[in-house]
Amino acid sequence: MPFRSLETADLKGKTALVRVDFNVPVENGAVTDDTRLRAALPTIHFLSSKGAKVVLLAHFDRPKGKRVPEMSLGFVAEPLSKLLEQPVAFADDCVGADAKAVIDGLEAGGVALLENVRFHAGEEKNDPEFAAQLAALGDLYVNDAFSAAHRAHASTEGVARLLPAYPGLSMQRELEALDAALGQPQRPVIGIVGGSKVSTKLDLLQNLVGKLDKLAIGGGMANTFLFAQGHDIGASFAEKDMADTAREILEKAKANTCEILLPIDVVVAEKMEAGVASRTCGLGEITDVDRILDAGTKSADRLIAAIAQCKTLIWNGPLGVFEIPPFDAATVAVAKEAGRLAKSGALIAVAGGGDTVAAMNHAGVAGELTFVSTAGGAFLEWMEGKALPGVEALQA
Ligand code: 3PG
Repeated sequence: MPFRSLETADLKGKTALVRVDFNVPVENGAVTDDTRLRAALPTIHFLSSKGAKVVLLAHFDRPKGKRVPEMSLGFVAEPLSKLLEQPVAFADDCVGADAKAVIDGLEAGGVALLENVRFHAGEEKNDPEFAAQLAALGDLYVNDAFSAAHRAHASTEGVARLLPAYPGLSMQRELEALDAALGQPQRPVIGIVGGSKVSTKLDLLQNLVGKLDKLAIGGGMANTFLFAQGHDIGASFAEKDMADTAREILEKAKANTCEILLPIDVVVAEKMEAGVASRTCGLGEITDVDRILDAGTKSADRLIAAIAQCKTLIWNGPLGVFEIPPFDAATVAVAKEAGRLAKSGALIAVAGGGDTVAAMNHAGVAGELTFVSTAGGAFLEWMEGKALPGVEALQA
């Protein structure tokens, strides 16, 4: 189903309620990574330039329906105002008289940030009455928070049903990038899924083997697959009780002609610590005390060659313990090549979810890939093939 377009909306003199994701990392009251604030700027500028009042709805942390002073969104107003280069009014509540007074006080094009929507129990319950209180504050609703779109909450879902609803510019860009990677991808399409546990990515793996031409499995979860195939993995982390499930996924991949790429060589050490002695070895050379901490050079080279044959790459999760060099080598080598190909236009490369962004930043390629999603849970649910309530509710 299509979305309404903000470009054609009548905005002059209107009040736009804009759901943003300002769930940002904080240290001593200061924002330590303002990526999510920056992501909201294009939509705010656009609405403001068209003469709308811009009213920002957001959550911060998980106050569980109560007013928790340490979880106030007040600290965001100043850094946001600096980035926007215009004042940001702050309302002590996201509904009722406080919110209304602050909105009434805005000039056309003015911006207000409302207090944490999760201070009200109605938010996470998606209570229709609370959604109606939110809707009463504006003429239209814009959702620019893809990373919160997996939540069916009042400010992400309920209110979208009560007002004309639009995707924001960042949301739109993200949906287009994701569609290019997994919805209607240019083929062949290859996926890389890493991270430690098969158990947390079961739905994702099941969905991907039905959609991709090739899937590389890395990180700790690759150990579980190697174990399931009968390899001796020494003292490596693995979910041995998931061996049957791993075999089922391999079977499903085969039935769907999705080629699975598991490591063919590995980097092992006795401890997962910086500076420990490590070596690269074949799968048959792992001893009882060895722990697999990265994919080996041959595995990385084979994956690089596989990517070069593909037109689209979707990546979630590192190939090794990238936080502790030298166990970052495979992730960095493959990421650099993906970045190079994406930059040259030969590959559509989309990465996201959890520590993937940190891994891409560590490899220095976040700016080279086609799209890097900072969404955690929402990106994973989308990769699992699930409908996201916050996106569904925007459909016209
Ligand atoms: C996030 O930070 O991933 C989103 O803001 C969602 O937050 P939540 O997991 O608390 O719903």
